[in-house]
Amino acid sequence: MMPVLDIEGLTVDFTARMGTHHVLKNVNLRVERGEIVGLIGESGCGKSTLAMSVLDINTRNRHMSGQIRFMGEDLQKLNREKMRELRGRHIGFIPQASMNALNPLVRVKKQFIETIRAHVDMPEKEMLALSRDMLSLVSIDPERMNAFPYEFSGGQRQRLMIALSMLLSPELIIADEPTTALDAMIQLQIIDLLKNTAREKNTSLLVISHDLHTISRICDRIYIMYAGRIVETGTKEEILRSPRHPYTQKLLSSRLPLMVEPVRVKGIPGRPPSTLKVYQGCEFLERCERSFELCREKKPPECTGRARVSCHLCHVEG
Ligand SMILES: Nc1ncnc2c1ncn2[C@@H]1O[C@H](COP(=O)(O)OP(=O)(O)OP(=O)(O)O)[C@@H](O)[C@H]1O
Ligand code: SF4
Ligand SMILES: [Mg+2]
Repeated sequence: MMPVLDIEGLTVDFTARMGTHHVLKNVNLRVERGEIVGLIGESGCGKSTLAMSVLDINTRNRHMSGQIRFMGEDLQKLNREKMRELRGRHIGFIPQASMNALNPLVRVKKQFIETIRAHVDMPEKEMLALSRDMLSLVSIDPERMNAFPYEFSGGQRQRLMIALSMLLSPELIIADEPTTALDAMIQLQIIDLLKNTAREKNTSLLVISHDLHTISRICDRIYIMYAGRIVETGTKEEILRSPRHPYTQKLLSSRLPLMVEPVRVKGIPGRPPSTLKVYQGCEFLERCERSFELCREKKPPECTGRARVSCHLCHVEG
């Protein structure tokens, strides 16, 4: 079957006063029908840029090459109007920090109705019924539809966003850091809810996070991103049980066990490379304990999906 989302060789640069920022580098990523896929990497590695490239937002000073296909259609070939329709109706987006994305001064009911109205022609009664169903699905009492967003907790607002993104039964939902800024217990509730709602509606889900431990719970497959490049991909089991890239291995060992309160992310020592520089060898070199000569001279082979890891070690070891 045709993948819902198929990204091939996606490269994104931004020109700025300081020079050119190389943000995404030859990224290959696929989401199959009904699949839950995780995109994981530390802050600044390019995760949101990937999401925004799919949705065609944040286009200022952007130079993009490669291909993005959604349900077989090349997104770069669509005109504005079609792109707008796609965005609201076929691809649901839960943007980063989205629990603050609801307009605080507009009642929930109105925000839901307006979202529907922007895309489909439907009698108001049906719009209301649909909204009520979605609220129930995310365990928010539909009777509270007349409340304002500020009358809900952060976790509840995040659930409202999930409901809102799923209102029109999109084929794909992109959730960018859906649980950051929530406490550990609520985080787990929210990601389980995301999973259950996606499964219930047979929606594909691309979930973006810096937190491998929390997000991996719900994923079928995972992509690990480092400095704008996919460095490893595999099923959840492959990534969690036998990570092969030194970065993935560090990510897995760098966090206290789940549910330790407060959750502290013990980062990986060293800093990610500058987006302004072009590196001849492996971008993880400076932080890698297993680097050897070749790593400085030559870029490791690209992670294409069929090749699971982008690291010289794996290709030496076989
Ligand atoms: N319009 C732009 N102009 C210049 N640089 C940009 C632009 N948009 C993003 N970047 C840069 O691209 C890099 C990746 O940013 P991005 O927001 O994609 O990271 P991220 O992985 O989502 O990080 P976080 O986990 O903190 O959300 C950053 O260095 C950022 O400064
Ligand atoms: S290619 Fe070399 S430097 Fe890069 S992750 Fe592999 S061993 Fe480390
Ligand atoms: Mg981001």
